[in-house]
Amino acid sequence: MNELILGIDIGGSGIKGAPVDVTTGELIAERHRIPTPQPATPKAVAKVVAELANYFAWESAPIGCTFPAIVKKGFTLSAANVDKKWIGTDADTLFEKKTGSSVTVLNDADAAGLAEMKFGVGKGVSGVVMMLTFGTGIGSALFIDGKLVPNTELGHMGVGKHENAESWTAARIREDEDLSWKKWAGRVESYLQHLEFLFSPDLFIIGGGVSKRSEKFFPYIDLKTKMVPAALLNNAGIVGAAMAALDKNS
Ligand code: BGC
Repeated sequence: MNELILGIDIGGSGIKGAPVDVTTGELIAERHRIPTPQPATPKAVAKVVAELANYFAWESAPIGCTFPAIVKKGFTLSAANVDKKWIGTDADTLFEKKTGSSVTVLNDADAAGLAEMKFGVGKGVSGVVMMLTFGTGIGSALFIDGKLVPNTELGHMGVGKHENAESWTAARIREDEDLSWKKWAGRVESYLQHLEFLFSPDLFIIGGGVSKRSEKFFPYIDLKTKMVPAALLNNAGIVGAAMAALDKNS
């Protein structure tokens, strides 16, 4: 069983990586970031993944990698905020060819959720836990007694007259529409109340960049369900990706 795995987090503006000790969830070297190439085609992104592996002199040991889309058995199957060429790409194999390592690709929110459930605020929580990440889009990760139900894509659920929650209430929308925290929080509240009605979760975990500013919007959100900000912040994706790769390689 490998305990050191290179975790890589592919985002819209940066691709970040660091070796992770998967028994403790700690990064064992400072993370390295390379700007996401534009356009972020499979070929261009694979080149950056290989650059990160080289940077950490990562030879043939496993790599785990997040991707902001539906990922099934290593294939990327949707492209809400990424280059459409990703739809139907065998990302595991593409990255394996470039790096010479075994690579496990999974959805970004699922990875962040796995890390929070093992090392963060979801640790030891049973029942239904729902993590939502607010960023360019909205990602979701659903856990039932600690077990992930992958690719839930709840950011694409409709709320009220809005067909797609993420184009109304992602963190990016607060900036694009120059909304006050209070106004944006009202939208997040409607969204979470709808999820609460549909899933009766035991805990909501709020992740993404905004989770470190929870005092700005949590006070405006009224729910029956307990809601907590994520603990691992920027590193959740890297750590969760490494955890997923450990599962595939053990
Ligand atoms: C994608 C999800 C992703 C989320 C956060 C959404 O647009 O459909 O797969 O998890 O953005 O990046």
